[in-house]
Amino acid sequence: MSTTLRKSADPLAAKADLLVVCVPSPPALAGPAAAVDAALGGVVARAVKDGEVDGKPRSSTVFHAACGLAAPRVAVVGTGEGRPEDWRAAGSAAAGAAGTARARSVALAPPPEAGEAEIGELVDGFGTGIYRFDRYKTTAEAKRKAPRVSRLAVHSAAVSTRDVRRADRIVAAVNAARDLGNTPSNDLTPSDLGDHAKALADATPGLSCTVLGRARLEKLGAGALLGVAKGSDEPPRMIVLRYRPTADARPGEVLGLVGKAVTFDTGGISIKPSNSMEEMKLDMGGGAAVLEGTALVAALGLPVEILAVVPATENMPSGHATKPGDVLTALNGRTIEVINTDAEGRLILADALAYAAREGATRMIDFATLTGAIVVALGDVYAGLFGSDDDWTALVRAAAEESGDLAWPMPMHDRYRPLIESRVADLTNSSNKRQAGPVYAAQFLREFTDGLPWCHVDIAGTGMVNGQGTGFGVRMILAVAERLAAGAAA
Ligand code: BES
Ligand code: MN
Ligand code: ZN
Repeated sequence: MSTTLRKSADPLAAKADLLVVCVPSPPALAGPAAAVDAALGGVVARAVKDGEVDGKPRSSTVFHAACGLAAPRVAVVGTGEGRPEDWRAAGSAAAGAAGTARARSVALAPPPEAGEAEIGELVDGFGTGIYRFDRYKTTAEAKRKAPRVSRLAVHSAAVSTRDVRRADRIVAAVNAARDLGNTPSNDLTPSDLGDHAKALADATPGLSCTVLGRARLEKLGAGALLGVAKGSDEPPRMIVLRYRPTADARPGEVLGLVGKAVTFDTGGISIKPSNSMEEMKLDMGGGAAVLEGTALVAALGLPVEILAVVPATENMPSGHATKPGDVLTALNGRTIEVINTDAEGRLILADALAYAAREGATRMIDFATLTGAIVVALGDVYAGLFGSDDDWTALVRAAAEESGDLAWPMPMHDRYRPLIESRVADLTNSSNKRQAGPVYAAQFLREFTDGLPWCHVDIAGTGMVNGQGTGFGVRMILAVAERLAAGAAA
């Protein structure tokens, strides 16, 4: 989708399949909504009076316009109380209306109170709302059913072309992360993900990419990642993206981003039940968010240096797979007794975190679809947020809240530390005690952060919803980078 800006054009004259106007809650007609109502002889006001148009977020009502408007239909969408998430929900309601109307072109006429932030959210909600993953649909019928909006025109004098381009870029990055998630594992292997990262770097100024294969990983001593990859015929990859801004970054600060990319998680020898196992193609959502989020920050040219590390592998059972009881040596020299081969995410993150710390990250965040237990605790609304440094965790939490990728703080008390102790090695990757699973994982990860300020974001619930990738984390990464950039300017 591409968005254009019409600074002065009259929305009533907009030539589009669907015109979209907004109504707040409690409902009141102003600006384009009032103009549309007048052009249609008062039908919108009547619908407000009847309670059919209530302005609540996610609501939309479509009116057909036989005359009075250049567009054949108008959707009235609710912007609620005007919180950022309400504007995004309004954009997504407009996308729903566009789908029902089978519109290919849409004109959006925001109300007078909408500024650049609100219009950004509207475009974001719209662009991510029209997303569909239909790459594998081949029949003519499926294609006919799925016309997609290719053009969105925003009628507003309150924003600049730059604001609209920014919103378009966010949409593209979030949808790209969703595409990566939704792509089945036979078409998105660790090598494919590495190639994707290289293509991102080639297309983005300031971004460079190195992909480490088996030989390099052996030399590095990345025994945890290699141990997980051992059962698979697909070779593992450690994908390293570096963004070096041309504008001055805060001297010495390097944001380390680490993302779990298990392109398929069978559980390995500790194999998972077959029910819904197909969803485990989404076990690379953290890696997808880190790659697309980093590329987004680079495309927007923010003055923040980033080192992104994405360990990528399959987790498979086989004659050469790692077995329960095996001991692996991670990149930082720590030994790990593998109790459960299905706790593979923390193993590959261990090497990636240690690598990022060694390569110069000064503060880190990792994103990972790590534990089923965080889904039980927080569902698909909040990710679990763990941290080793109060200031850094507070910044990440605030950025998460602002971005709409919500994250709720979870405890890291030292009394949880004994959970990860092993009788055989330095650490175990799992215990038979069914206690505090997400905290256990975070305690384990902290051992590989070299004492740096670090946050862990468990996105098992928010990164995949109804078997679909969400792109969760991309907007959060952007919001964190923006906060760091603002600090750099101060
Ligand atoms: N990828 C899974 C976590 C997961 C589960 C993500 C459900 C999304 C939905 C992870 O690798 C895993 O298997 N975790 C285990 C850890 C356990 C063996 C300690 C889990 O949560 O059961
Ligand atoms: Mn697993
Ligand atoms: Zn996993």
